[in-house]
Amino acid sequence: MISPAVSTPSPPPIDSIRRAPINLNHWYVVAQSSELTDQPLGVVLWHQPIVLYRDRNQVIHALEDRCPHRQVRLSHGQVQGNQLECVYHGWQFNGAGACVEVPYLSAKQKLPSCRLRTYPVKEQDGFIWLFPGDADQADTLAPMGLPEWDHINYIASYTTIDTPSHFSFLIENLMDMYHGRLHDNLQAWANPVLRDIETSPTRVDAHYDAESYYKIDKIYSVGQLFIPAMRKLRPTHLDVSYVYPHWQSVLGNDFKIYCLFCPVSETQTKAYLVHFVSLGAFHRLHKLPMGFRRFVKNSLFNAARGLLAGLVVQDVLMMEDEQRAFEAMPHRKGPEFNQTIVKVQQLIDYQAQQS
Ligand code: FES
Ligand SMILES: [Fe+2]
Repeated sequence: MISPAVSTPSPPPIDSIRRAPINLNHWYVVAQSSELTDQPLGVVLWHQPIVLYRDRNQVIHALEDRCPHRQVRLSHGQVQGNQLECVYHGWQFNGAGACVEVPYLSAKQKLPSCRLRTYPVKEQDGFIWLFPGDADQADTLAPMGLPEWDHINYIASYTTIDTPSHFSFLIENLMDMYHGRLHDNLQAWANPVLRDIETSPTRVDAHYDAESYYKIDKIYSVGQLFIPAMRKLRPTHLDVSYVYPHWQSVLGNDFKIYCLFCPVSETQTKAYLVHFVSLGAFHRLHKLPMGFRRFVKNSLFNAARGLLAGLVVQDVLMMEDEQRAFEAMPHRKGPEFNQTIVKVQQLIDYQAQQS
C-alpha cells in the first residue's frame, strides 16, 4: 500500500528542493569518534563553523569556531586541561563558551564578558552527534543511533562521503534502488521490485523484494566482501529508510547500512557510510569465549572499507553531474518513475519548513 504524502499532495518545485535548508532541530553527525583526539577539531554543519574538543575527562564540548578577540578559528588552537586556547594570543575558553584566561591581563583589567555559542553534543555508537538548532529541544529528541556499533555480533566498516552537491541528491541516491547497475562489480543487490512505501512526518520507508549477491552463513563467506567470484544472487528483502535526516538500509538478514548526514551548505554535503555484517547466522557463536569474539570483531573492523569507498566514488560522480546540471538549468526536471523519490522530496520540503 502506498500511504499519502506527509503534508503536500504534489511534489514541491524542484528548485526549492535543491536549495532546501535542513531542519536544524535534529541530531546530525559531525565526526567519527576517533577523529577527535587531544587536538581540537573544526567542522562545518550547515554554514556554522564549530570547534569540538575533549577536555581532560574526555568530555566533548562544541563551541562556535571563532575567537571573539580577532575572529580567527579556535580550531587552530590547542586544549589546555579543560579549556580551549586560541593560537593567536592565548586567550582560553571553557566548555560553556566563557573566556576564563587572558595571559597578559594587568591587575586592573577584567576578563572580557564575551560568550561563545555552545551546541548540545553527544558521543554515541562510534560517532559525534550535534544538535545545531534550539538547544532547549535537544533533550526531546534522541540521536538515531547505531546499536550494531558495539554489538559483539556485528562487524563494522565505514567511509566518508564528501560531495559538492545538495543533500537531496545524496538521500535520493541512497533511496533509489534502481541504480545497482552503476556499481558493476561492487553491486550488492539486483532486480528490486517495490512492494510498498510508508511515510510519516519524519521518515520514508520503502520495501523491496530483491536479490542479494551476498550471504554470510559460513566463516569463509565473509570473503564475498573482497572476491566477486564468491558472490551468487539469492532472493531476499531490501528495506531502505529515510529517517530524517539520516538513512538506513537492511539487505536480507546479514547486512545493515547507515548513512549519517552532515550537510555543510546548499552545495556541499558530508556524510559517513557505515556498513555492518551480521554474524548472527553462526548459531554456535555464543559458545565461543567473549575474548575471542571481541578479537574477531576488532580484527575484521573496516574489512569492507575498500568496497564502500569504491561505491562512493561511483555515486559521487553522478551527484556532481546532477548538481552541475541543476545549477545550469534550475527549473529543468527529468521524468521520474520512482515513487520513493517523490516521497523523499516531500519529506525534505516538510522538514525544511519546520526549522
Ligand atoms: S585572536 Fe584569539 S586570542 Fe587573539
Ligand atoms: Fe549507489
